[in-house]
Amino acid sequence: METVFTADQLCTPEVIADPFPAYHQLRERSPFSYVEPPGAIPGIVEPIRTWALLKYCDVYGALRDHETFSSVRRSALRRWQLEHEIPVAIPSVVLVNDDPPRHTRFRRLVNKAFTLRRIEALTPWITAVADELLDKLPPGENDIMPSYTIPLPIRVIARMLGIPGDDYERFKRWSDAFFTVTSLDDAERLREIQEMMAYFRTMVTARRTDGADDLITALVEAEVEGEKLKEWEILGFCTVLLVAGNEGTSYLLGNMLNVIAERPPLWQQLRADRSQVESMIEETLRYAGPAQRLFRTTSRDVEVSGARIRAGDSVTIFYGSANRDPGEFPNPDEFRLDRELRNHVGLGMGIHYCLGAPLARAEASVTLNAFLDRFSAIRRGPTPAIRQTSSRNGFGFHQLPLVLER
Ligand code: HEM
Repeated sequence: METVFTADQLCTPEVIADPFPAYHQLRERSPFSYVEPPGAIPGIVEPIRTWALLKYCDVYGALRDHETFSSVRRSALRRWQLEHEIPVAIPSVVLVNDDPPRHTRFRRLVNKAFTLRRIEALTPWITAVADELLDKLPPGENDIMPSYTIPLPIRVIARMLGIPGDDYERFKRWSDAFFTVTSLDDAERLREIQEMMAYFRTMVTARRTDGADDLITALVEAEVEGEKLKEWEILGFCTVLLVAGNEGTSYLLGNMLNVIAERPPLWQQLRADRSQVESMIEETLRYAGPAQRLFRTTSRDVEVSGARIRAGDSVTIFYGSANRDPGEFPNPDEFRLDRELRNHVGLGMGIHYCLGAPLARAEASVTLNAFLDRFSAIRRGPTPAIRQTSSRNGFGFHQLPLVLER
């Protein structure tokens, strides 16, 4: 019998593990209001009543209209942070939680570091790291998450920032703490985040005396309208760059390999024609995108698909539901390489479009090509795969054991 989903079930572990049946049932009724329990937004400890946007047209409209759908959260904690321009317990997420004009200034500053040219120059190094990780895999079944998909993005962003990347387990712990893993209590989360801030403070201090060719030095030396960045802004940037991309990229790599493991002909198709690697990545971002939900706050009264949303209300953008909306993507539950994919929202849309998009795509392309070069087949072994359910914002695997045939 088909499960009947209610709005509040959008937050259950079952739906986090496989949200698409719930999206399909609830999409036509949206926007509707539901309660998001604490844990989805760093620094917000109270449950929030929020509007779910599940239709592609509503998600697209909200992402394009950043004036109405503000990224700054106006909870008491956030207001305090903004007014005092200092982070309290958990730093405000630079860029992600900024509106123009601050967003525009900050974005201009880091855009230079994430150009396609820069990422292309980094690609041979990413390939070498991918090869090194794959060389270490023992024959037989391997859980590809801890052995490959988690260390690769962390080592890449650590290199860009200019910090040692071999301590990736610590960075992973910090990212998890920041993005609200329910296994940690508030005190533990705070301790991890404070440890991360102290680590970055040491790195920033070192770069002030000894500059290097890395992002931390660029941030220390950067001037916006004649003024240097304040220390908390630099720390905010370091945090967002370390934590924003790792989980997403790791889940993207896992989801992509899983799609292939479940569809053996696809692997042969890609081996025969590498020009389809790009479509494979884009269709994974649509069909099994790591980003599932993020939040906005309305700055004025607005009507969305017939619902009246008041100024100051919270709104949840469901990227994964928009990407499976049959109104935009015919037969959305089919994984196909021949779709028109320019309009998917797997990496956002509008002014907050993912800063790390070229980097995430480069890491996915390096990964897929490295696997295609080495393995004749990828399949599931006897150990079950387990979806992560600790972060409501993400869609990905906690454990993904795969047999890689050489
Ligand atoms: C596959 C991996 C990734 C996914 C699925 C992803 C997804 C997203 C999405 C959906 C947004 C839009 C947020 C919004 O609408 O408010 C976003 C923004 C952002 N992403 Fe990514 N991301 C990925 C990788 C990365 C990487 C590798 C980095 C950096 C190293 C990164 C840094 C950022 C930053 C800084 C923003 C905020 C941009 C802004 O507000 O102007 N992301 N990402």
